Amino acid sequence: MPNSIAVTADNRTDYLVRPLCPEDREMIEQALKLLSPRTLYSRFHSHGVKLSKKDLDYLTTTDGRDHVSWLVIDPSKRPEDFPIALGRYVRDKTQPSRAEVALTVCDRHQGQGVSKVLLGALGASAVAAGVESFHGSLLTENRSLRRLMQSLGAELTMRDGTLQAEASADPWQLPDSAAARKIRRVATQVGTALNGQRDSASSVRMRS
Ligand SMILES: CC(C)(COP(=O)(O)OP(=O)(O)OC[C@H]1O[C@@H](n2cnc3c(N)ncnc32)[C@H](O)[C@@H]1OP(=O)(O)O)[C@@H](O)C(=O)NCCC(=O)NCCS
Repeated sequence: MPNSIAVTADNRTDYLVRPLCPEDREMIEQALKLLSPRTLYSRFHSHGVKLSKKDLDYLTTTDGRDHVSWLVIDPSKRPEDFPIALGRYVRDKTQPSRAEVALTVCDRHQGQGVSKVLLGALGASAVAAGVESFHGSLLTENRSLRRLMQSLGAELTMRDGTLQAEASADPWQLPDSAAARKIRRVATQVGTALNGQRDSASSVRMRS
């Protein structure tokens, strides 16, 4: 299991973040079953969502560059315990500087700023992988996400009844809003930890 990283977005609440790994498949399957119908509808834009084996395979097969997923874990829990949030991006095949993002925060933890933790971790990975912008679709009634997108200077356009949002993936290119500062703070902590992990992995390789 990848190392988890301790982060704090606003000096008040600490979280652990770690990349999703193949061993998380069963846990993700269980965690999705605990989401309310409202959250599932908001995330997948349809009622009665049942993920197939193929959907779950896709969701949990990440490569750390083109398909990246981060989990947020309550720091009072163990890294292998149920996450409180999952965020991922998938790089566009035809426009590789863009990636589609999806965020899911468990019902009990919504409205507490966890989306910024996810976007900070995803942003740190995006910068390292050369992804410049994130896009995604959201329901018009998704007020919290609309509010967040607006505070990140996202371009919002209407297509087929849903809102399409596009914003910089690079946390340091976002406007100077409170939300962007939290995202940058998490991205800095994650970026520093990832660089440290890479440095220690290469010194182990050099020694062996
Ligand atoms: C949408 C979602 C990702 C937001 O994550 P979150 O951690 O709950 O959001 P935050 O607590 O960071 O709040 C985001 C913004 O919404 C505002 N907000 C929170 N609840 C709100 C509400 N009921 N009405 C209006 N705004 C609200 C916050 O003030 C914040 O704005 P700010 O960043 O400018 O201060 C989360 O609620 C979720 O997973 N929903 C279900 C799945 C989904 O909709 N996914 C998105 C489509 S892929």
